[in-house]
Amino acid sequence: MSDEAQRLKIVFVGHVDHGKSTLIGRILHDTSSLPEGKVAAIQAACTEEGMEFEFAFLLDALLEEQAQNITIDTTQIPFRTARRRYVIIDAPGHKEFLKNMITGAASADAAVLVIAANEGVREQSRRHGYLLSLLGIRQIVVVVNKMDLVGHSEQAFRELEAEYRAFLASLGLEAQCFIPASARAGDNVARRADDTFAWYSGPTLLGALDELQAVTAPLGQPLRFSVQDVYRFDDRRIIAGRVESGTLRVGDQLVFSPANKMSTVASIEAWSAAPPEEAIAGDAIGITLRDQIFVERGYVASHQQETPIEANRVHAELFWLAEAPLRREAHYTLRLATQEVKCQVVGIEQVMDSSSLAISSGEIEQVARNEVGRVTLQMRAPLVLDNHDRVPSLGRFVLVDAGRICGGGIVFGGVYTDRFEVKSKNIFWSEGRISARVRAAQNGHRGAVVWLTGLSGAGKSTVAQALEAELFARGMHTYVLDGDNIRHGLNSNLGFSPEDRVENIRRVSEVAKLMADAGTVAITAFISPYRLDRRRAREIALEGKAEFIEVFVDAPLRVCEERDPKQLYKKARAGEIRNFTGIDAPYEAPEDPEITVKTDEQSVDESVSMILEQLLPRLRTEE
Ligand code: ADX
Repeated sequence: MSDEAQRLKIVFVGHVDHGKSTLIGRILHDTSSLPEGKVAAIQAACTEEGMEFEFAFLLDALLEEQAQNITIDTTQIPFRTARRRYVIIDAPGHKEFLKNMITGAASADAAVLVIAANEGVREQSRRHGYLLSLLGIRQIVVVVNKMDLVGHSEQAFRELEAEYRAFLASLGLEAQCFIPASARAGDNVARRADDTFAWYSGPTLLGALDELQAVTAPLGQPLRFSVQDVYRFDDRRIIAGRVESGTLRVGDQLVFSPANKMSTVASIEAWSAAPPEEAIAGDAIGITLRDQIFVERGYVASHQQETPIEANRVHAELFWLAEAPLRREAHYTLRLATQEVKCQVVGIEQVMDSSSLAISSGEIEQVARNEVGRVTLQMRAPLVLDNHDRVPSLGRFVLVDAGRICGGGIVFGGVYTDRFEVKSKNIFWSEGRISARVRAAQNGHRGAVVWLTGLSGAGKSTVAQALEAELFARGMHTYVLDGDNIRHGLNSNLGFSPEDRVENIRRVSEVAKLMADAGTVAITAFISPYRLDRRRAREIALEGKAEFIEVFVDAPLRVCEERDPKQLYKKARAGEIRNFTGIDAPYEAPEDPEITVKTDEQSVDESVSMILEQLLPRLRTEE
């Protein structure tokens, strides 16, 4: 097992003045974790300057030393007890905490939350609690520090405990224990203080830590190997990255997303030791592949049976840190594992205050600092991710504005789809000499797929043709793929059984992707009644790095039936046609389309301008 995995990682959080540094200094001192002579040296320095010795100085001194030796992006402080080794992840404030946790620099097994007895539960104490719940840290020890300042009062302790327990419960969290302590005196940290805390029979802090479970390294989770860089040594290409979850073995067949190219692991390269046969979650490794496929920083490798989600639209719960609020329609850079993608906030569904947990919903325009927003983000390029509750490391991200991290969050509600199995293994994708970028430059716009879905008679073909005419008039390359037309030729062997509809949409998705790759704006007009099929259509388009925009052409069944342009509803009602969508076959309305046009309320022109408004900016060639 890797060294990383054996140490229990604990994040220490707490309001600035509640004595967190003193507590860490005290732990280091009492577990003799400091270099020889360090304590004495600091004591001497204090005496010399006429200052009182503070345990917090120990931490400061240690940090200074660390900073000189290596560049560290998070502060990791080791110590050990008789039972095992620990790493303290120090998070000065919730900003740093969130950054550390989300960028994956440090993922904690447990948290120690420090609250000063004389100050009580503060806003920040509640925010920290919320962040623990957001990030899924389930093991929490609460240290009620500075008990000496409240005369070691049991009542003060119990009141604080009751208040904070209730708060954690409202987040669905439960603390392992609450420990009354004085970090300065060392009471109940490493050593029991029965004289001052006769009423307390629980464990000391170190005792409580020793009781915690090491969160099993995410080995049981699906494999996610995030690519950091690709190096060339002689004629070998080494793909360097981190196993975020699961296990990677020599001989494994890997799928690299977003391009969905496959190859087999030829070797795992270790930086020093003999080449290992497998690598596990937490390991930073390099691998070589049997077949040379194009891979670059940001790609994620997985096993074929358990691939991640590929999406250009993401639902997230987002904690906002920056002074300037997050605004709807604003653009940010999203970082997830080693990926970096431009995105736009296209919806804010709900906002919550992370301290009071008060929620507001409705038409929301912004998420202010320390608020948590439920947001929808639209990417400029495909993003490889997981739902946070499935694979946490690929389910969390930060938003960056002008180089600064201004918020972080987790992904939820993404849909996993199985890709169709490729029947023959002996096929390769050949890259032409003309790239999509060059094509776009010549055409003056990028290719895209505009996917219209809706009931028969809802107006898909009408809207599609009007949209096509508008694009054409702008000198753009565009083409409508229409249900009835395609069913005359390419799909003439398909009927309307569920299986045939799935195959119908699969073929259309592939054709649309090719057309987009060829630089065309492909507009598809198919009922495409199944959500999963439309989801696949999106993935297929994204695989070809094409923009995909789902448009729900919405009209009530009653209206479609009244229109009945082909007199098919009438026949369906009469039982002359079976499996007719809306009558005796289902239509699954989109839950989250980019655009909804209501053809019973809007004119065709209005519908088309709604689509153009979103589509045209995305077809621009410049980055
Ligand atoms: S899909 O469900 O597979 O996406 P598609 O859009 O290709 O359907 O074809 C729908 C068109 O086929 C309808 O507009 C209608 O003209 C015709 N059609 C004939 N039979 C059916 C049926 N049973 N259900 C739906 N549409 C039908």
